[in-house]
Amino acid sequence: MLRMLGILGDPVGHSLSPFLHGEVIRRSKLPFLYAAFHVRADELPQAIAGARALGFRGLNVTVPHKQAVIPLLDWISDEAQAIGAVNTIVFAEGRSFGYNTDCDGFLAGLDEQGGDLQGKRVLILGAGGAARAVVRAAQKAGAAQIYIHNRTLARARELADVFGVGVLAELRDVPAHDVVINATTVGMHPRVQESPLPPALFRAGVFYADLVYSPLQTAFLRHARAAGAATADGLGMLIHQGLAAMKLWADCDLPAGLPGELRALLQARVDG
Ligand SMILES: NC(=O)c1ccc[n+]([C@@H]2O[C@H](COP(=O)([O-])OP(=O)(O)OC[C@H]3O[C@@H](n4cnc5c(N)ncnc54)[C@H](OP(=O)(O)O)[C@@H]3O)[C@@H](O)[C@H]2O)c1
Repeated sequence: MLRMLGILGDPVGHSLSPFLHGEVIRRSKLPFLYAAFHVRADELPQAIAGARALGFRGLNVTVPHKQAVIPLLDWISDEAQAIGAVNTIVFAEGRSFGYNTDCDGFLAGLDEQGGDLQGKRVLILGAGGAARAVVRAAQKAGAAQIYIHNRTLARARELADVFGVGVLAELRDVPAHDVVINATTVGMHPRVQESPLPPALFRAGVFYADLVYSPLQTAFLRHARAAGAATADGLGMLIHQGLAAMKLWADCDLPAGLPGELRALLQARVDG
């Protein structure tokens, strides 16, 4: 019997998850159907209860529900607890289990593109939901030093307090670093010419990773390459957080070639 999967968000129409998971299901011959569901904040409890009652196998959860969904679940993983957000729910044996696959998805996407945080001095730009997963990833990977910079300084301080990392108040005081990660929305379509760092601050020898995947080649990554630096785009994280969620639902390994196949498909879709 086919079982339902889906993504809850508001808005959700732009999400690439139905396309991504549709391809994973088809290529891995899994017994699932995946759809997007537009759910407003005041209807989240009914949506979770309804999915459970209808026998859904699981859900992805996106903005603005990743935090609000936590008290609605029976159990959440240590990772989701540490990040303070759930992006994947599994329904099993009448219970609901919450996970966060963004942290491991980010690390896998980075690794695939030649990036590494172990022993590195890491600067993270942004203090929103995605930045939380990236700070956790940097800690998990064993970064030697972690600083957060954010437009709204109070949010950077709040996040830094939660994770016990440093705050960079002004970009002109950028400390020595090996990796810079853009976890802001700056550079996203349609404001594609904007970069969270001015061109003069990019250096060869530093690794630059962007979470933004629309467009794939952001101004941030273009400035980095112009300075002679290595880069990773946001598609790796998108693919690997999705594959990690599918592994939880399917409870089996997926074909080894999937990440590469998905990259080619999604690249054409994002850039097309
Ligand atoms: N690749 C993936 O799989 C993946 C996964 C998750 C997210 N993302 C991407 O990551 C990005 C952040 O997502 P999110 O969920 O963390 O968003 P969010 O919670 O809304 O946070 C947005 C962040 O961007 C900053 N920001 C927004 N406009 C800015 C501007 N004009 N100048 C400087 N900073 C600005 C905000 O700073 P303030 O605090 O000052 O407002 C905040 O730190 C998005 O582009 C999203 O698509 C990618």
